[in-house]
Amino acid sequence: AGGRPGARLAFTPIAPVPASADSFVVPDGYRWSPIIRWGDPLFSARDAFDPNAQTAQLQERQFGYNNDYLDIIEGPLGYSAILVANQEYTNESIMFPPAVTPEQLDEQRRIAIAAHGMSIVQLYRTRKRRPWKYVVGAPLNRRITASTPFTFSGPAAGSALLRTVEDPTGTTVRGTLGNCAGGTTPWGTVLSGEENFNGYFRTAGTSASDLRYGLADRATARGWEAVDPRFDARTPGYENEPHRFGYIVEVDPLDPYSPPVKHTALGRFKHEGANVVIGRTGRAVAYMGDDERFDYLYKFVSTDSYRPGSSKRSRRHNKTLLTAGSLYVARFTGDSAAAEITGTGALPSDGAFDGTGEWIPLVIDGVSHVPGFSTEQVLVDTRLAADVAGATKMDRCEDVEPHPTSGRVYVVCTNNTDRGKAGKEGAVEPNPRTNNRDGHVIEITEAGNDAAATSFGWSILLLCGDPATNTSTYFAGFPADQVSPISCPDNVAFDSTGAMWLATDGAPGVIGYGDGLFKVPLEGPERGRVQQFLSVPAEAETCGPVVRDADEMVYVAVQHPGENGTWAQQHSYFPDYVAPGSLTDGRWGGPRPSVVQVWKA
Ligand code: FEO
Ligand code: CA
Ligand code: CA
Ligand code: CA
Repeated sequence: AGGRPGARLAFTPIAPVPASADSFVVPDGYRWSPIIRWGDPLFSARDAFDPNAQTAQLQERQFGYNNDYLDIIEGPLGYSAILVANQEYTNESIMFPPAVTPEQLDEQRRIAIAAHGMSIVQLYRTRKRRPWKYVVGAPLNRRITASTPFTFSGPAAGSALLRTVEDPTGTTVRGTLGNCAGGTTPWGTVLSGEENFNGYFRTAGTSASDLRYGLADRATARGWEAVDPRFDARTPGYENEPHRFGYIVEVDPLDPYSPPVKHTALGRFKHEGANVVIGRTGRAVAYMGDDERFDYLYKFVSTDSYRPGSSKRSRRHNKTLLTAGSLYVARFTGDSAAAEITGTGALPSDGAFDGTGEWIPLVIDGVSHVPGFSTEQVLVDTRLAADVAGATKMDRCEDVEPHPTSGRVYVVCTNNTDRGKAGKEGAVEPNPRTNNRDGHVIEITEAGNDAAATSFGWSILLLCGDPATNTSTYFAGFPADQVSPISCPDNVAFDSTGAMWLATDGAPGVIGYGDGLFKVPLEGPERGRVQQFLSVPAEAETCGPVVRDADEMVYVAVQHPGENGTWAQQHSYFPDYVAPGSLTDGRWGGPRPSVVQVWKA
C-alpha cells in the first residue's frame, strides 16, 4: 500500500490503464466526482451550459476550458474554500458544432477568447473528508479571460517595447493566454504562467526575437486576428502586442476587484509556472521553467523582504515583492567525465547523474548584467539574454517546486525527443538521455539551503519510463520492477508527509498508458518508489494536483479529454458519461475539462 500502514490516504496503487480507456480510475476504496466542469455557471443559474447554444457572453460567466493549474485554498475551519484554476487553451473542434456561417465562426472565436484565462469559485461542504460543492453567485467568484484588463509591473512596465496604439503608455494589457501551471504564494495570491503565447499571434516573423520565440508570419490556428486586430502584429500600431504576453501573472483571489498583474521582473518566456518560497534573509524566491526543448531554468529573487502575517498591511507589501529584484538562469555542471554520459541512461562510474550549478545573473536588483542588453531588453527578450549568458539547455522544464520542509527544489523535465538528433545538443549529465521520450526529475539543493543562494548542488532523482520495456529508467535506486510505469512528468505537489506527487502529460504516446497521478516518497527506504494513484480519461492530461492527505482528499484538473475527436465523433464523454450528444440536467454527452475531487469512501 502507498504510504505507511495506517497513514492517511493509504492506497494500493492502481494498475496502469490502457490509453484508449475513457475512464477516470481511482484506487479501491476511493470515489470521485467533478467539482466544476467547463461551462458550469459562476454567477447565475440562468447561464446554464448548452454547447449547442453557446455564446461569448455566456462563456464569460461560466467556468472556462482546459483547466491546468489548480489550488483549493481552504478556510480556517475546513468547511469553505476558494477554488482557483487557470484555463490554458481551447479545443474548438470538439466544443461546438462546426460553424456554418462566417458570423458563427467569429462568435466561436469570441467564445474561445472568453474560455481562456482563469476562474475563481467559492466552495462549501458540511463535513470534512467529504466532497465539496461550488456556490453559484458567491461573492468571490470571478472570471478572468483573454480580454480582462491587466496591469504591468516591474522594470519593463512602460517600456517602449510594450507600447501599442491601444496602450501608448505600455502599462496595461487586455487578457492572459496559454496559462499552464502556477503556484500559490506565501501571501495567498495565485501565480500563473503564460506559456505557448506565440501560437496566438501572426507577426512579421523576421526579428531575432520573433525567431527565438517561435512567432511567425502565418495565419494562426485559432484565427483570432479575424475578430481582434491586435492578434495580427503586422497591423500598424500593434507590432509590440506579442511582447505583452509570456509573463507570470498574479491574481488575488480574496479581492475580486483587484486588477490582475503581469510581472515583467520575472522575465518573458514560455512560462510553465512559478513557485515562491521565502529565503533565509526573507527574500521571496520564485522558481520558473521555460517549457521548450533546450530552453532554460530560471529563478527570481526579490529585492524587498517578505512580511509575515496576514494583516492588510503585510499583504499589501507582499503583493509588491515580485515587482523588483534579480533574475537568474541556471548553469549545471556535471561531476562525471563527459565520455561517461553515453545517452543511454547508464549511470556513470560515480553512480549518479549529479554535480554543481550556478545561478547566472541576468538582472541584479533591476540592473542588467547581460552585455549589450538593457534591463528592459533582458526582461522582454529573456531567452536572447539567457543565450548570451551561457545557460544550460534543458529537456523542457515544467513545474519547478521547492519542497515545503526540506527546502530542496524539484525540477521536472517532461521530455525532449530532439536531444541527440543531428544538429542538436547530445546527452549531458543533467539531461543524460538522447531521444528523452519519458522525461526526468532533478533534485536541487541550494548552497546553505538558502533559496536566494547563487550556487547549488544537484542530482537526478528519477529517469522516467516503463521499466518493463525500457532499460534506461532510474528511480532513486528503488527496484525498478516494483514501481508503477510513469512517463512525461509535468506538475508537482507535496503532501504533509513530504512525499512528492507527480502528474503526467503525454504518457499515452510513449508508454501506451493513460496519464495519471503518482506518489513518490522522497525519504527512507521507499525513496523513489513510484505508485500510481489515479488515471485520467482518453486523451486527457493530469494537471494541478492538490493532495490533502490529512483530509484524505486529492484534487486534479483534467485537461483536454477527447481532444483528438470531432464534434460528430467525440472520443471522450468525461465526466458526465451520458448518451452521446444528450443534455439533461446540465449533464452533456461530450467531453468537459473539469476539476475532480477524490475522497475515501
Ligand atoms: Fe502547458 Fe508545459 O505544459
Ligand atoms: Ca556524476
Ligand atoms: Ca504543464
Ligand atoms: Ca506539458
